Parts: sequence; C-alpha cells; structure tokens
Amino acid sequence: MDQKILLTYASRGGSTQGVAHAIGAELVKQGLTLDIRYLLDVKDIKPYDVVIIGAPIRMGHWLSEAQQFLTVHQNVLKNKKVALFVVCMTLHEDTPENRAKVLGMMQPTLALVDSIDTGLFAGAMRPTKLKFFWRLLARITHVPEGDFRDYEIIRAWARGLASKLMPPTHL
Ligand SMILES: Cc1cc2nc3c(=O)[nH]c(=O)nc-3n(C[C@H](O)[C@H](O)[C@H](O)COP(=O)(O)O)c2cc1C
Repeated sequence: MDQKILLTYASRGGSTQGVAHAIGAELVKQGLTLDIRYLLDVKDIKPYDVVIIGAPIRMGHWLSEAQQFLTVHQNVLKNKKVALFVVCMTLHEDTPENRAKVLGMMQPTLALVDSIDTGLFAGAMRPTKLKFFWRLLARITHVPEGDFRDYEIIRAWARGLASKLMPPTHL
C-alpha cells in the first residue's frame, strides 16, 4: 500500500509557502503522492506515515506555531518518518558558516524529532508583504531584503528526500 505523506508549512510572508509548493511539486514528479496543508489547518496527523514540516526563522527561532506543532505532536511523530525544512535570510549567502548558524538556531527544534533530512533554504524578505510592526523589526535587525529562494537547490533537496521515501524497487 502507498505510504501517506503530509507536507505542512507555516508562513507569514508567503515565501515558505512557495518553497513548500515547489517541494511538493518535485515529490509528485518523483512519483509520490501527498497532501499539502497550511500548518494551522492540520489537526490530525495520525493517518500519515510521513510528515514533512517547513517554517521560516524569525528572531533567531523557527516560527513559534511550527515549534508548537512539533511539541504537540511529538509523541505521534516518533512513529513516523519526519523531514523538516527551514527558510531564512541567514542563508542569503549559503556558506558553511551560515549553515552552521542556522543549525544552531534550529537546535531546540531538532531536539524534538528525528528528522530523516533537514533542508536549509534562503528565503525572501519582501517588506510589502509584512505588517508594519514586522517590517520595522526586520529593518531594525538588519534582515536583508530581496528574494533569495533558489529553486534548483530546493528541488534538488526534494529529489534527495524522495529517494529516501521511495519504496525499494524489486528487480
Ligand atoms: C521580523 C523578521 C525577523 C526575521 N528574523 C530572522 C532571523 O532571525 N534569522 C534569519 O535567518 N532570518 C530572519 N528573517 C527572515 C525570514 O526567515 C525570511 O524572510 C523568510 O523567507 C520568511 O518566510 P515567510 O515569507 O514564509 O514568512 C526574519 C524576517 C522577519 C520579517
């Protein structure tokens, strides 16, 4: 029987939503079927064998609703394959140092689940998509502006993930 896959994401400015849909489309292209849902709409993850969760980083932490989702579903997730992805502006320069920084920010999250693969992606900071308060905060904390999402990198990660999720082929 096919495994049931949920891809769920949190997003405030829409860029993680774009990343989530690109990952979803690539997984489908690789032959998998899945449900894509906005994280706050997901109430029950029990029917799924695989749960892929993505969210951006804000103020040095994975988005609070995503972190809370992991905390609430932590026990159920222990019996499933889990993959995570992170979208942030630290990776607008994708260097080993910046990747290490992001993994550092993700430690409280990674401590909650056994992620079979964790995608780290540059995001987008589009001030017009943000409410005044967040726009101001982003400016004060020097979050770079622009769209740095690299869909080649995102799709390549999705292909790697698909290869881990595909049932073994019998020759
Ligand atoms: C208020 C604010 C704080 C942010 N803080 C961080 C941060 O601490 N580290 C980081 O790498 N990116 C930070 N970012 C950048 C976001 O992670 C990036 O813009 C991401 O693509 C937003 O995703 P979304 O459009 O799905 O909400 C911040 C963005 C905003 C608006």
